Order: sequence, then C-alpha cells, then structure tokens
Amino acid sequence: MPIILEKKYENDISLAVWQITESHDELQAMLPSEILTDAELASISHPQKQVEFFCSRLVIKYLANSLGIKYLGVKKDEHGKPYLVGSNWQMSITHTSNYVAAVMHPSEALGMDMEKPSEKLKRIAHKFLSESERINAEGDIEKLCIYWSAKEALYKLYGKRKVIFNENLHVFPFQKEQKKITGKLTINELDEKYSIYIEKIDGYILVVTGK
Ligand SMILES: CC(C)(COP(=O)(O)OP(=O)(O)OC[C@H]1O[C@@H](n2cnc3c(N)ncnc32)[C@H](O)[C@@H]1OP(=O)(O)O)[C@@H](O)C(=O)NCCC(=O)NCCS
Repeated sequence: MPIILEKKYENDISLAVWQITESHDELQAMLPSEILTDAELASISHPQKQVEFFCSRLVIKYLANSLGIKYLGVKKDEHGKPYLVGSNWQMSITHTSNYVAAVMHPSEALGMDMEKPSEKLKRIAHKFLSESERINAEGDIEKLCIYWSAKEALYKLYGKRKVIFNENLHVFPFQKEQKKITGKLTINELDEKYSIYIEKIDGYILVVTGK
C-alpha cells in the first residue's frame, strides 16, 4: 500500500493518495469483517468495482488513523454521498485504475476528483463549461481536464443530484501552471466560493475542493 502523496492544505484539509499494487484478495483481507460486511460485498458484483471499493475504504481508514480518528466504516446517504460512520469529519473519495485518493476535514464539506486529460473532453466541453469558461480553456486538454475535475469535485462537495454543470458550477479563469484556483457553487439557496487545489501525478490531474 504505497502512499505516494500525503499532505495538509492551509485550511485543514488532509489528503492521501495511494498507488494500488495489491491483488483483490490481499485488499479484501486488509478490511475487517465488521467494516466490510457480507451484504456490502454482495452488493458489488464486478471484481474491479470491488477492488475500487476496498481501496477507497482502506485509504480513508489510513487517513483517519493518521488523524487520530477511530475508523468505523463509510456509508452513503440517500444521494450516494459517502460519510464516516460515527464522526462529524467530512470526506471525499476518487479512484482511477492505478490510484485511489481521499480527503478529510474536521467539519467542512469536501470534494475531489482524479482524471487523465483526454481528447474526449473537447467534444463534451459545451456540456460542462459556460461560454466564458470555454474561451478560457482554449481547447487545451489539460485545462479542460482541470475544469472537468474541478466541477466533478464541486459536484461531490455539494453531494446532491440535479446539478447543471455549465450553470450551477463555476471555475474562475486560471493558468494551467496554477496550484490553487477558485470555484463557485450557485444552486438553490447556495452561492459560495471554494478553493480548488491542483496536483499533477503520473499524467493525472488531481483536484481537491473545500472552503
Ligand atoms: C458520482 C460521480 C461524481 C463519481 O465520479 P467518477 O469520476 O465516476 O468516480 P470517482 O472515482 O472520481 O468517484 C467515485 C466516488 O464518488 C463518491 N460519490 C458518489 N456519489 C456521490 C455524491 N452524490 N456526492 C459525493 N460523492 C459521491 C463515492 O464515494 C465514490 O466512491 P465509492 O463508490 O468507492 O464510495 C460521477 O459518476 C457523477 O455522477 N458525476 C456527475 C454526472 C453529471 O451530471 N455529469 C454531467 C456533466 S455535463
């Protein structure tokens, strides 16, 4: 379980990124049965999905341990947003085929995403970007990936469905070398700005958002 990046941002957000090197069975054996119940396991049929599930729980468990919080498992609310059992700490998870990452904060909602820049983002840019964001992205796939990941992270921070990406989620203009940018969520009663932190790992863009 090599943790390849662990850091604390200025506002008390803790991040851990884990490179997946273990097999399905090794990962399963690392989760005690009171945390990974038979019912939970039976609800995920695809072995690769099970690997993602094990890894995300293990990286949260790792982070909780290093922050001195007792890990009692992760459950999902009615919108699918994960939360830590028996704790007010907030969290978010993302996985790719090689990495799994998690963030935690003592009280404020968080979101995160990890993606690889791809040409496909050019074709769907109009669906997730406003006109001014599209102009700022300049058709650059790395910038498009930062926009996409930032909006996925803001979506996870909000946690509820019915979010219109090119209307409710905003990312202020940025240069792709920036490590910190700003986003905004405007939906229903909410009109809030958030910090967005950017890491570049092995060709992936990792984005973390929080207050
Ligand atoms: C749910 C969603 C955000 C997951 O993102 P993804 O890139 O497919 O997958 P990731 O690995 O980054 O994230 C998966 C994690 O998201 C978390 N997640 C799922 N639903 C969530 C929600 N409503 N709120 C917060 N987090 C959520 C889960 O913890 C999940 O991990 P787990 O299953 O191990 O617990 C994504 O599938 C989605 O629905 N996005 C919005 C779709 C949309 O409206 N797009 C329109 C763009 S034009």
